[in-house]
Amino acid sequence: MNDDDAPKTALDLCSIEEIGIATRTHLENSGFKSLKDLVVRGPVDISEATGMDIEKSAILCNRARQRLEDAGVLEKSFVTARKLYNNRLTAERASTGSRNLDALLGGGLETRAVTEIFGEYGTGKTQICHSLCVMVPQDRAHGGLGGKAIYVDTENTFRPERIVSICNARNIEPDHVLDSIIVAKAYNSAHQELIIDETGPIIDANGVKLVVVDSAVAHYRAEFLGRATLSERQQKLNKFMHILLRISETYGVAVIITNQIQSSPDSIFGDAFRPTGGNVVAHTSTYRIYLKRSGRNRIARMVDSPYHPETEVLFSLSEKGAADPDKD
Ligand SMILES: Nc1ncnc2c1ncn2[C@@H]1O[C@H](COP(=O)(O)OP(=O)(O)OP(=O)(O)O)[C@@H](O)[C@H]1O
Ligand SMILES: [Mg+2]
Repeated sequence: MNDDDAPKTALDLCSIEEIGIATRTHLENSGFKSLKDLVVRGPVDISEATGMDIEKSAILCNRARQRLEDAGVLEKSFVTARKLYNNRLTAERASTGSRNLDALLGGGLETRAVTEIFGEYGTGKTQICHSLCVMVPQDRAHGGLGGKAIYVDTENTFRPERIVSICNARNIEPDHVLDSIIVAKAYNSAHQELIIDETGPIIDANGVKLVVVDSAVAHYRAEFLGRATLSERQQKLNKFMHILLRISETYGVAVIITNQIQSSPDSIFGDAFRPTGGNVVAHTSTYRIYLKRSGRNRIARMVDSPYHPETEVLFSLSEKGAADPDKD
């Protein structure tokens, strides 16, 4: 082995002392093809899928994390704030197509984070997701990340013709964009979970930079009705959201999820609505943006962020997808 091989072998399952050929085959057959898979899915999942005891699964998961830290894929467990600051200054961001929305997000949709947009029907959640899918394949000089997008469509609202119309309105060649979007229709919550478990290897094999889940909560809401199933629903949603968060960190991609709102007796911002999914979704999303109608335009408000102030901006929905009211 020469030095050039080191980064590749460092990420191989067998690079962990505890994993021999037989264990590797067993892991691969159980859906864990790489060290990243082990980290993303976590010890409980590894144990459940392989039948290994939880202690061994935890050891494998920790070893995998260590390898990825050593290879520079993941941030070290102990790191100076200065290093973190420098990393954040160079964090990649994708344009939404709206300057105002980009400004609200601090320069665009952030990679290595989960951004949630929630709002009433027709407020532009799906339109923003489509716009991002058009922008992400563009090169960095044009607001993109030069990568592909995965669109997990749970509401059957992804429309390739809308992608084409946004491209045409923006003078972007549509074929390249259409080739850059990988669509996965999720027919129920179990299917949605299966898709997300399989997402990691697809990200690596295709150079994916954006993962969209539109909507993250809808299937859970529809399938788990009533108080009796609430805790099971929240448990499943919690697991789903944490896998998404670990995907964003481990693969360095931007993740955007959409969420609906439900009426609430205790109101936020004077509106009698709150996002669905409860604390589970609220606590796992890095950034939360609330969308609201404002005449023909829309208001986007940053309602939860570790560092953004609680500000709001105006944007519009047009042929261009998400856009700015003054210009369109
Ligand atoms: N080609 C277009 N040109 C201009 N505006 C459009 C176009 N297509 C859709 N829209 C606008 O987008 C709105 C629909 O937005 P979108 O589908 O993103 O809503 P949503 O927030 O995802 O709602 P839901 O909760 O139902 O999924 C329409 O009401 C319309 O105002
Ligand atoms: Mg929608």
